[in-house]
Amino acid sequence: MFYQELEKLQKDKLLREIRDRAAQAGGGPAAQCSSRIIMDNREYISFASNDYLGLAGHTALAAAAKEAMDRYGFGAGASRLLSGGTLLHRELEERMAEFKQTEAALVFNSGHAANVSAIPALAGEGDVLFSDELNHAGIIDGCRLSRAKKVLYRHRDMDHLSGLLEQEQGKRKIIATDTVFSMDGDIAPLGDIYGICLQHNKRSRGEANTVLYLDDAHGAGVLGNGRGALSHFNIKPEPWPAPAIIQMGTFSKALGSYGAFIAAGKSTIEWLINTGRGFIYSTALPACVIAASLAALSLVQEDQGQGLIKKLWQNRERLFKGLRSLGFNTMDSETPIIPIIPPHLSLNKGAVHDSGVILKLSERLLSRGIYAPAIRPPTVSIPRIRATITAAHTEADIDWLLEALAQTKGKL
Ligand SMILES: Cc1ncc(COP(=O)(O)O)c(C=O)c1O
Repeated sequence: MFYQELEKLQKDKLLREIRDRAAQAGGGPAAQCSSRIIMDNREYISFASNDYLGLAGHTALAAAAKEAMDRYGFGAGASRLLSGGTLLHRELEERMAEFKQTEAALVFNSGHAANVSAIPALAGEGDVLFSDELNHAGIIDGCRLSRAKKVLYRHRDMDHLSGLLEQEQGKRKIIATDTVFSMDGDIAPLGDIYGICLQHNKRSRGEANTVLYLDDAHGAGVLGNGRGALSHFNIKPEPWPAPAIIQMGTFSKALGSYGAFIAAGKSTIEWLINTGRGFIYSTALPACVIAASLAALSLVQEDQGQGLIKKLWQNRERLFKGLRSLGFNTMDSETPIIPIIPPHLSLNKGAVHDSGVILKLSERLLSRGIYAPAIRPPTVSIPRIRATITAAHTEADIDWLLEALAQTKGKL
């Protein structure tokens, strides 16, 4: 059994524990755009949420959810194919497809469910799946469930990817990548990856056999004025014979709601409706959740990169520059996800003893009213604080974190 492994996790300071938040004073809408959380009767500034635009507490989302609940009730009752869906589900898909400039879109119950449903549906026996070594667990699990051959390529290494693709001539290939890597905060070189897909399709005598599968969980609402990573790279999904691009995005992060979508060509979506197991065999999301996602989508579309999205990036720059000037290692972060590694720690992969130092750093921050948890193996090979910055942070919040970090230097 697992008891000994559990003890070992404890000994190695790798045991995960859940911490629960209490409702903000006043609850609900009073928490609008706040970076504050309450745990164990104390208020903290959180640098741990993926609610990049601070929409999770926005009054517009809560109001839309309440109205939908009054009209549709709470639970959806069944999977959508068994009558669990509503007109709101359809509306969200139509609006999402328009926003992403694709022919169609399909709502899934979560980003993880979308990945583990879509990847095995799209890649089967005889196909080859190419996956960046730092992809999120959802892609990894989707690959594991697929009958396709799996090939890992080194993180963002295009020469490696090209070489591996060469070895699989004549086969249908799917390249799966996170757009923004969830622990390192760097961005996949989508322009290069798309170029490689184009080249391969040309060489296979016009037969479009290389498909691009993107997990844009941390790009949606953040990159490309909120439209996501493809827009950031100015790549437009084109119809056949251009390489097919399948975009998975979540409503659960920058959009402050819950659930996910896949935006792609019409026949891909039709295929997923018929073969995506997490779609077919799971109860639909409640209408109130869908209504909140619709409200969030409207806010992102109205923003056009000028309001909350601009503030998010300004905040990101302030924190990033501050960390750099203090000498902290931020790895290759280019986004609101910023790893924080103390200057004196080596970047040895799997250096378990570093987990203790990072835990100590996280505890020091906690004592100063800052919640920024330690991320440790096996989630990452290099232990770090994973800080996320949002539009809800104030300059004072950011400066407080920087000051607290400055105080820890040389004391860990
Ligand atoms: C890159 C990536 N993909 C997918 C997911 C899963 O999304 P969800 O939380 O909606 O299941 C996450 C969530 O942490 C993620 O970071």
